[in-house]
Amino acid sequence: MGSPFTGLAFDSVEFASLATIRQALETRLEELLSDTNENDDPVSQAMRSSVLAPGKRIRPLLLMLAARDLGCTAPVLLDLGASVEMIHTASLILDDLPCMDNASMRRGRLTVHRQYGEDVAMLAVVALLSRAFGVVSEAAGLSSERRALMVSLLSQAIGAQGLVRGQYEDLHEAHRPRSVTDVMTTNSRKTGALFQASMRMAALAAGADRAATDALDRVALALGQAYQLCDDLSDCSPDHGKDADQDRDKATLVNLLGAEEVRRLLNEQLEEADRHLTIVYGPRSALGNFMRSLFPHSW
Ligand code: IPE
Ligand code: IPE
Ligand code: MG
Ligand code: MG
Ligand code: MG
Repeated sequence: MGSPFTGLAFDSVEFASLATIRQALETRLEELLSDTNENDDPVSQAMRSSVLAPGKRIRPLLLMLAARDLGCTAPVLLDLGASVEMIHTASLILDDLPCMDNASMRRGRLTVHRQYGEDVAMLAVVALLSRAFGVVSEAAGLSSERRALMVSLLSQAIGAQGLVRGQYEDLHEAHRPRSVTDVMTTNSRKTGALFQASMRMAALAAGADRAATDALDRVALALGQAYQLCDDLSDCSPDHGKDADQDRDKATLVNLLGAEEVRRLLNEQLEEADRHLTIVYGPRSALGNFMRSLFPHSW
């Protein structure tokens, strides 16, 4: 494939706006999902239409900003970000299936199984996960050791003790009494794990030291927690491109504690994230600004 920044060295992207970085990521995702002439079959179409639909791209942007502000401006960041976005999208396709949340809308469009059927949706999930691992393992400009570490991070984030376990608990534990700690553990598995893997990949790409890596870990977990709470708080809102009122039978903290207490917990998590972010980047950073922009009603 040609350079994702054709005519634009990544050096200049060092000072580029978030909008430019976001656009470069969209272009790279399109390239990575259209890399053969034989990809007009329904599974490939479902992969492209789900990934290229207007998602917020939070995880790849966190990865790219975290690494860039640690001094890494290599084009490989786009491939790493794209791989995380493919994994996230695969998790959304699964989450929407009739046997899980049974959703009809995602990112303002019909869900993949509604549009292409459940068989295609499940195959697209497998193919997206597989494509994501392929992209990381082939990422140019990284040592083979770092690539292997990233593959391992992602495999743990997705696997039976990561996102998969969180999703299982979310679906099956709602009818038992659950403590706040239990629900937060589920949230860190289903949502925090991929935030954490994204930040660890950023730290690895940038060659961050132990202290910065640990601080970014804390940022990712607090942010993942805050993000899931924010999503739960907006479950009844009709205008976010996905089905509203999905959590009626779920053991979310909103159902357990009420919205006001959840807002307090959310702010606590954001303050924790901010504290650790400041250790690495100081009080003013692009990553901090981006993070705050995700929670316009908090802070
Ligand atoms: C939705 O994630 C799933 C949660 C973890 C709450 P996003 O809110 O990042 O969804 P997209 O990528 O913008 O569609
Ligand atoms: C996020 O939980 C699940 C994943 C990490 C896939 P939700 O089920 O609340 O996500 P939305 O609200 O459908 O996006
Ligand atoms: Mg769900
Ligand atoms: Mg859902
Ligand atoms: Mg939700």
